[in-house]
Amino acid sequence: MSQPATPSGTTSGPPLVEVRNVSKYFGSVVSLKDISMSVHAGEVMCLLGDNGAGKSTLIKIFAGVHPPSEGTMLVEGREVKFGSPRDALDAGIATVYQDLAMIPLMSVSRNFFLGSEPTKGFGPFRRFDMARADRTTRDELAKMGIHIRDTSQPVGTLSGGERQSVAIARAVHFGAKVLILDEPTAALGVKEAGVVLRYIAQARGRGLGVIFITHNVHHAYPVGDRFTLLNRGRSYGTFRKDEVSREEVVSMMAGGEELEQLGHELAEMAHQDREAGKEMADTGRQFAEEARAVRDEGDRG
Ligand SMILES: Nc1ncnc2c1ncn2[C@@H]1O[C@H](COP(=O)(O)OP(=O)(O)OP(=O)(O)O)[C@@H](O)[C@H]1O
Ligand SMILES: [Mg+2]
Repeated sequence: MSQPATPSGTTSGPPLVEVRNVSKYFGSVVSLKDISMSVHAGEVMCLLGDNGAGKSTLIKIFAGVHPPSEGTMLVEGREVKFGSPRDALDAGIATVYQDLAMIPLMSVSRNFFLGSEPTKGFGPFRRFDMARADRTTRDELAKMGIHIRDTSQPVGTLSGGERQSVAIARAVHFGAKVLILDEPTAALGVKEAGVVLRYIAQARGRGLGVIFITHNVHHAYPVGDRFTLLNRGRSYGTFRKDEVSREEVVSMMAGGEELEQLGHELAEMAHQDREAGKEMADTGRQFAEEARAVRDEGDRG
């Protein structure tokens, strides 16, 4: 059920998914305000922003977890209203959350087919077709250049990066058109993160639209085609890679003025520390003098 290969960066036709002027309120909390964003086939769209910026809330709208409070959502140009994550899955939108829904003690292939197990036999004789699951899992992983020694080994024995890769391969195999990855590289070391970034590029190469969420610009910049920057629920806009440098992305993410303000605060704190330090030194000297006077008096007495 693999996707036809599409050249990377293809942007003809309507986007695979799109939100227009979406807002999301939780009571009085404004989690998102007036956000528009889209992803095309063969494109990696990076969703960047600091903690609490609203990234997870936005992808939960794409994933059918939250309905938007305002605004519309379109799949391949048609307006949709998802009632549940199942609706999003049926529309070809697969989401890989950071705390992966995998069972550590179960084998790689069991996890690969979790919820969609291939069976053999009929009626009471129906059982999980282990050989087929192993074969398919190995083939699908190999297509993405992932070579796992033994697909019957427990998922718990895989590294974090390998686990992410299995989740990505699984989404691709089950026919996802859009792959949403929420902070897939956050808990990984440099090398492991590199491996996951390669799979993201491979998914794009196979014609998927990828929404890659991260707050690490150094992970986003090398694989991203476009960047949407969120700051406290609002969008700074969407930029193509040729429109924005890595440094500009970093500075927008932090919020230029906020960084400056932080600089001032830190300088003030250092100044106060110095003052406090001086005061403590004075007190210390005073104590020492008093102690010496007391001792001298004792000596004389
Ligand atoms: N279910 C909810 N109920 C109330 N407020 C929520 C809910 N979900 C998110 N929020 C609020 O919306 C804001 C954005 O949260 P969100 O989780 O989308 O941020 P994020 O960009 O994913 O941050 P992080 O990088 O820390 O994962 C936060 O202020 C959060 O407290
Ligand atoms: Mg989040």
